[in-house]
Amino acid sequence: MPAPKRSARSPIGVFDSGIGGLTVVRALMERLPFEDIIYFGDTARVPYGVKSVETIRSFTTQIADYLLERDVKLLIIACNTMAAVAGDAVRERSPVPVLDVIDAGARAAVDISRKGIGVIGTPTTINSNAYARNIHALNPDLHVYSQACPLFVPLVEEGWLDHEVTRLTAKEYLKPVFVESIDALVLGCTHYPLLKSLLQDVAGPGIKLVDSAITIAEQTARVLTEMDMHNPQRQQPEYRYVVTDVPLRFQTVGGRFLGRELTQLEQVRW
Ligand code: DGL
Repeated sequence: MPAPKRSARSPIGVFDSGIGGLTVVRALMERLPFEDIIYFGDTARVPYGVKSVETIRSFTTQIADYLLERDVKLLIIACNTMAAVAGDAVRERSPVPVLDVIDAGARAAVDISRKGIGVIGTPTTINSNAYARNIHALNPDLHVYSQACPLFVPLVEEGWLDHEVTRLTAKEYLKPVFVESIDALVLGCTHYPLLKSLLQDVAGPGIKLVDSAITIAEQTARVLTEMDMHNPQRQQPEYRYVVTDVPLRFQTVGGRFLGRELTQLEQVRW
């Protein structure tokens, strides 16, 4: 690899299996308004949540290499599924710090829970047991109850954020989790923060929702301070969005995740 040209002015690299990771970009923009960001969304190969571990690891490291070649100063794995099964492979090859949503979500949940923690995510994330492992490494006494919710991703992409079908689906999925004694529910998938108000309704006031997008933005700010790598330029930052496909309705759905219009879109073909 050529000598790194990284500095405090380098961008932060954020990546995801598709557009869901824009929820993390949104939180970063709010928390760190002067940082440049390159976002990579593998829209041609999404969804990852139902793919095999080998496939996810190979796709994930390919994307990490792409961003490292662009001299990012920090890598953020915004996709829970990638973080669950390929976080170690990214860390092994990265000369810059790697943050991921599972580590961030687990820390936040342990901080607020006194009774037990529910975790929801894609089938691959839940089967990997990554959240439970991370939580138990921090506090072995906390009970963790996990539930895969595969229908949430298509429902969110359809825009059914406050729809009866989504509400019924949530009640059905969460029934076994809510019979347990929990006081925190980790939204372990990029798409779930968009269902926050519906899920809070279904969960009731006694359960706090953990949104790893917000937590990881806080963690990023801390790491940049520790590294003395905050962008010193106080001007309009540059945002680039790199995708592997531009599907129909991409702008609408992407805009919903980002909370603003998607511009500066580039497509790479692999
Ligand atoms: N980004 C994925 C996650 O956070 C959800 C979409 C997918 O299955 O690829 O798990």
